[in-house]
Amino acid sequence: MNKVGVITGASSGIGQALTIRLADSYSVLYICGRKLSSLQKTVDLCGTGGAKLVPVVMDLNDKASIKSAATGIIKKEKNIHLLVNNAGQSQRSLVKDTSEEVEAMLMQINYFGPVQLTKLLLPALQQAQSSRIVITSSIVGKFGYPLRSTYSAAKHALHGYFESLRFEEKKNSIFVQFLVIGRVQTQVSVNALTAGGEQYGKMDNGQAGGISSEVCARKIEAALQSNRKEVLIGGKELLMVKFKKYLPFLFYKIAEKESNHV
Ligand SMILES: NC(=O)c1ccc[n+]([C@@H]2O[C@H](COP(=O)([O-])OP(=O)(O)OC[C@H]3O[C@@H](n4cnc5c(N)ncnc54)[C@H](OP(=O)(O)O)[C@@H]3O)[C@@H](O)[C@H]2O)c1
Repeated sequence: MNKVGVITGASSGIGQALTIRLADSYSVLYICGRKLSSLQKTVDLCGTGGAKLVPVVMDLNDKASIKSAATGIIKKEKNIHLLVNNAGQSQRSLVKDTSEEVEAMLMQINYFGPVQLTKLLLPALQQAQSSRIVITSSIVGKFGYPLRSTYSAAKHALHGYFESLRFEEKKNSIFVQFLVIGRVQTQVSVNALTAGGEQYGKMDNGQAGGISSEVCARKIEAALQSNRKEVLIGGKELLMVKFKKYLPFLFYKIAEKESNHV
């Protein structure tokens, strides 16, 4: 086995379910989040056996924290076989109301943070000779959506950046895979930022009706066995990605109708 993985956002939702799912296939998993106590819950849920789970406290909104987390991992591991850039924070605010500070924070957490972490871990991903960087994107990384402007922009930016990295690092056997996630029942809407930077605090209907994080993690595990560059995971909302690509007139008709309710 002797495989080493790093999963961000492992203290909750999709990242936690994925950690539980992957624990048997890795020798060591570094699990990242802002709070040690939440990461410890993930460790407890995994039980004994399987991978050694190492909690790593890291705040993607703090460059120094990313550096110290990555340095700590690199000190222990020459080779990293898997990096799942999963952590993220959503948004529920109109463009006209959202402060520049909140926009900068959303870009740091959802785009610059994963970029900074990946660059710091890149030597160990190269060293492994065969490794994978996974990006948890969203359907709003494929199209814009009301109340998600900066979050959507950050997810779009991930596609441009990490697709470029895939081309550059093919020679080093690093594969980049995007997970385009639809609706999953997690705390993502509750934790979303409002115009002034507070927590939104509500469970959206969409979220509540989504697939469970366990089902999502099972699909991610299957994706990890494949060489599909982009994998769509969710329910019927994924149709909007297909519509945007193949039937744009239909996409705009539906999206504009939905936008009228905002
Ligand atoms: N659920 C959905 O429907 C959905 C749809 C599309 C995409 N996604 C994406 O899926 C990923 C996982 O989200 P989730 O649904 O599992 O939501 P979640 O339950 O809110 O989990 C978010 C995770 O990200 C971590 N995180 C948030 N801000 C962070 C920061 N500043 N620094 C470090 N870690 C941070 C959280 O850790 P702590 O709070 O403990 O630090 C938590 O582990 C995100 O990238 C999200 O954008 C989710």
